[in-house]
Order: sequence, then C-alpha cells, then structure tokens
Amino acid sequence: MDEDRTIKKISELRKTIEYHNRRYYQQDAPEISDAEYDRLMRELQELETRYPDDDIDSSPTQRVGAAPLSKFSSFSHPSPMLSLANAFFEEEIFEFNNRLKRMASVDKISYVAEPKLDGLAVNLIYEKGIFTKGATRGDGATGEDITQNLKTISSLPLRMKKSAQAAIPDFVEIRGEVYMEKEPFEKLNRRRREDGEEPFANPRNAAAGSLRQLDSKITARRPLNIFLYGIGSIQGISFSTHWEILQALSGWGFPVNKLIEQAPGINTCIEYFKRIGDMRNTLPYDIDGVVLKVDSLALQNTLGNISRNPRWALACKFPAQQATTIIKEIIVQVGRMGTLTPVAVMEPVNVGGVMVSRATLHNEDEIRKKDIREGDTVVIQRAGDVIPEVVKVVDPDKKGRKKEFEMPDKCPECNSEVVKLEGEVAYRCVNLACPAQLKEHIRHFASRGALDIEGLGEKLSAQLFDAKLIADPADLYFLTKEKILELDRQADKSAQNLIDSIARAKNPPLDKFIYALGIRHVGERTAKLLAERFGSIENLMAAEMEDLTIINEIGPEIASSIVEFFHEPKNKAVMKKFANAGVIPQKKEISNNAPLAGKSFVFTGAMKSMGRNDAKDIVENLGGTVQSGVTKKTTYVVAGAEPGSKLDKAKKAGIKIISEAEFLKLIGK
Ligand code: IVH
Repeated sequence: MDEDRTIKKISELRKTIEYHNRRYYQQDAPEISDAEYDRLMRELQELETRYPDDDIDSSPTQRVGAAPLSKFSSFSHPSPMLSLANAFFEEEIFEFNNRLKRMASVDKISYVAEPKLDGLAVNLIYEKGIFTKGATRGDGATGEDITQNLKTISSLPLRMKKSAQAAIPDFVEIRGEVYMEKEPFEKLNRRRREDGEEPFANPRNAAAGSLRQLDSKITARRPLNIFLYGIGSIQGISFSTHWEILQALSGWGFPVNKLIEQAPGINTCIEYFKRIGDMRNTLPYDIDGVVLKVDSLALQNTLGNISRNPRWALACKFPAQQATTIIKEIIVQVGRMGTLTPVAVMEPVNVGGVMVSRATLHNEDEIRKKDIREGDTVVIQRAGDVIPEVVKVVDPDKKGRKKEFEMPDKCPECNSEVVKLEGEVAYRCVNLACPAQLKEHIRHFASRGALDIEGLGEKLSAQLFDAKLIADPADLYFLTKEKILELDRQADKSAQNLIDSIARAKNPPLDKFIYALGIRHVGERTAKLLAERFGSIENLMAAEMEDLTIINEIGPEIASSIVEFFHEPKNKAVMKKFANAGVIPQKKEISNNAPLAGKSFVFTGAMKSMGRNDAKDIVENLGGTVQSGVTKKTTYVVAGAEPGSKLDKAKKAGIKIISEAEFLKLIGK
C-alpha cells in the first residue's frame, strides 16, 4: 500500500472502530463479533506503528487498555481537589446563603445548580488540548494515576475540540465524576451473578471497582460514563463565571450534565432542589443531591476555603431512600442458568414512595458477611430503580435469633444436586430439566441465534410447558398439531406452521445446536470452536477435560462446565430423546464443488484492492480457509506489497506463492 492509501486506511479504520465502539458501549447493539473487532483493532495498531501520525493520541487504539500494572503510581494534583460541605435540611441552605451574603456584603447571590452525581471524582490533565494524565481524587492532594483506565471511557474526548466559546488552553485540569448508569449496572451484575462472580452493591461501587482495575482491558469492558463539572488550574485563558466554564467545557466536547441550570437567587435553588429530587428515580443514573455553586469566580475567590471545603459551594443531600422492616422468610430463587439467589421476603414497607416486600440477598457470602437471618429487623435501601437490598441488621446482638441461613444442597425446584463451582460464590442447579430454568431453556433453544424455530417465542413455550406438553427442548420434536390445538387460542394454521418449523430444525448446524443447549459459558463463538473440533455431538459428549482444554480459547472453567453438563443424568436423558426424535446436527460441510474447497491461504504484505478481512470473507465464502501462518497444509501464500517473513518461510517450504492479481483471478474478480 502506498503512503496515501495507508493514511486513508488508517482514518477509515479509526472511524469504523469508533462506530463499533458506539454500537457496543452506548447502544448495546454490537454488529460484529469480538474476534472481528479485535482483528480491526490489530490491523489499525499495525498500521499505526508503521505510519505514526499526529492523531494517534485520539485514536481508538488508545482506548483498548494497556498492559496490566502491578500498582498505580501516585499523582500530585497541580491544584488541590476539595470536597463539599453538606446540607441535609432546607434551613441549612438558607443559612448558607445568608452567611455568604454577609461575608460578601451583597443582597443577592447568583448560583449555578447541578445534580450531585453519585460516582467517583477524577482530575484530568489536558496539555495543548491532548489528554495526558488522569487521576483519582485520593486525599485531595495526591491521587492515583488511572490514565489508561480513563482512556477507555468512550464519552471522554482524548483531544479537545476547537470551539467558538473558548480557545484551547496550554494546560488545564478538568474535574468531573465517573459513573455507571443504572441499567448497564443491572446488566453487569446479572452477568456477574451468572458467572458466579460477586455482584457490585451499587452503581457507585461498580464504577469505582472498574476504574481501579490494574488491567485496563477489564475497565474497557465496563459501561463507564463521565460528566465534567469544573476546572482546577488553567493556563492561557481565564473565565469570569462558573457558567462560562461549563459552556466552554461543553464547547470543547466534554459531556456536561444537561440538568445544570443558572439560579439567580436562593429561592430558585430551593425550587431546583425539590424539582430534581422529584425526578431522581426517573434519571438513568444515581444522584444523591444537588450542588449549589456561586456563579461569580471573583466572588468565589473572595470567599475562599474553610479547611478542605470551598465556602462558595454546598452539597444539598436528598433524604436516604431507606426504611426498617422485618424479614419474614428467606427463600431461594432459581435463575436462567440455574443460579440460586437467596431473597428476603419482608413485611411490606414504604421506601422513598414505593412499597417493597422483597430484597435480594445476592449470595451466601453476602448473607454471612451481614449476618442476615429470618426474623431479623433490618434496614433496607433502594438506590434509584435498583432492586432493594438489605443494608444491615438493626440489632445483631439480640438474644434468641433464628439460626444462620444455609444454602440448600438440593435445588428447591427440582431436587437435583446443587454445585458450587471452584472460585465462584454462587451455587447452581446443573439439571437441564429443572422447571424454573426450563421455560427459559426452551425459549433460548428456539431463539434466533440458536435453532431459530419460528413462531416459538417466550409466551408459547411457557404455555406449552405449563400445559405439560413439553418438559424440555427435546419434547418439541414429539409435538403434534392436535396437541398444540389443545392450547387456548391456537389456530389451525399457526399450529401447523409451528410443527413445520420444528420439523425444519431436525438437522440444525452443529454449532447452533451446541449453542442452543444452553451450556454455561458456551456462547456462539465457543460453540463454533467445539463444532469445528469435535465434528459431531456424540464426540463432544464423550470429550474429557484434556480433549477440551487443548483448544486454544477453552480454559478449565469452560471445559469443566461442558463435561459436567453431559455427565448430569437428566441432561443425558434429554440428549437421548433428541437422538430418538431423529435430531441429527450437521457439521458445516463446505460442498466439494465450492471453488476454493480444500484450499488454504496465507496472506502476507498489503493488498491494493482489499483489506485482509474482506479477503478472508471471500475465501471462506468460496469454501477455502485462511491461516495466520504458513504450515505444511498451506496451499497458497498471497504476497502483497512489502511481504513479511511468511514469504521466506513459504519459499523454503516450497509452497506456491501467488501475486494479488493471481489471487483476484482465482476468486473470479
Ligand atoms: S464540585 C470544590 N460538582 O461530590 C468542588 N462535585 O462531596 C468540588 N460531586 O468530590 C466538587 N457531583 O465527587 C462537584 N456537580 C458536582 C458534583 C460533585 C458530584 C462529588 C465529587 C466531590 C464530592 C464532594
């Protein structure tokens, strides 16, 4: 590739990756597989090392996370990060205003009113518009250098935008709050529970835990966000009000909270406090109050600080959404992947305007840590829309408390063995025929990414299950039209359609079938690897640990989950039923007529007409395979511009080397 083309390619790749970042992190709707994403990223990284340019600092390659650190280095804040004085009652807000008026000898003070985000304060250094360092608050004077982790936050600009509001300063410290939205937080916790990891207690802890990861690749996978709300020291330009600073931040491309308002006097502030308090639970993120800041920077300066707090700002806290109640019973619920979750059933109580009678107890460790028992009086808390949780037991030393909670050793739904996998906190039921899991299993089995059985959605599979027409995914194949018609509101035509689509699913692709079984840790990608390796479901069922861990991407955790799945007698029975029904998953055979069937390609050097990914897609669609390195099995090595060591290897091994033009001819272009 010549230089111009490479520069264009680099810019295209950056745009494509930014686009996929948005799909993944912001819209939660990825369009490409992780492997494909990694390939794009590697391609860009490779080109960037060969052709370094001025935009590297804001390239998406800077966001993926760097090599893990052994510890964070400390960072001295150029100007101290102060904290805020709190007010819990309206009266304290009026007192604050009166005090300031007296000190400044004025009749009225103008404020800026902001939501008080419940996250983690950070300090960001931008030099000549480029993000160079970022740190936690620490003790206010010294924090921890978390630059690599901050770079992974996709809404944080790595380079300041040119703006009409204000010139780009030579140096500036920008202050803000890193937080996690409530919905992605719930999702993260659900996933953690499924994987047997300890869930985070609240979005704030999740944000803090994610930011303080020594391995920034983990941070990169966490849905973190940031709002900026102030500056520390700045060189090159000056402002006269806090409002101007916020406008400038926004102009430079920083996310600034849209709910921030100018408040010309204290009454407007009180009104704002009430209004924001009322909408607190409808916001996508947690806030725990509002912050009032004197707008005039000259006045801020006159007022100065008192110990670690500025005199010119006040945090007005909302009342905690807590209540006290009694735990009537601790029950155990069985989730989709069989995870057993203990739940407290309580005397109903009003928490922040919502009646609550259940609280999650997360897992056995959490119950032990807080020593929660049936009959206890407890403080419970609701953080926004988050499911209520038990904060603490009110009187843990009380005499005559019930005995400690113990996790059942049999599944409360199906009486099967419950296992606790090594290194996990969660217990789970591994029985594929467990009724609590079954409806979800059946739905998953029929879902689009799995066997794609048209017409069998969540509702119908639950209906069939409740009517005892099916008890597991294999029973689907024994359904008849007559049986379906026994159900309420089933039309002849739709019953026939369902029977037809089930019949079509008798010879599913092997990888889809493996994925459809719903084995823990076996997603679409792992299912593909397994299908490729074992070639038939029988081979996979007979696989032992060593047969599985030999596969590159399969570690002991996934391997033992697979082995255990096929050892469970009830799952064995279901597998037998599939066989009896004549379900024969098909290994994806590339037809021998495919033009490139049996041929394998290795690419080296850059091609003019297409990128590596396109070439790979074309080869695979024509039945060929693409290898990353030259082996005895390689049929062709395609040599582009500036070929690497693969070419020498191919020459030595006597493997046929073809040019780009010859390759194009082979693929019919
Ligand atoms: S201003 C000197 N503005 O609250 C000014 N802080 O209790 C210091 N916080 O450490 C910060 N939202 O973590 C400010 N809109 C906001 C804020 C905010 C949340 C946090 C921040 C700070 C803590 C002080």
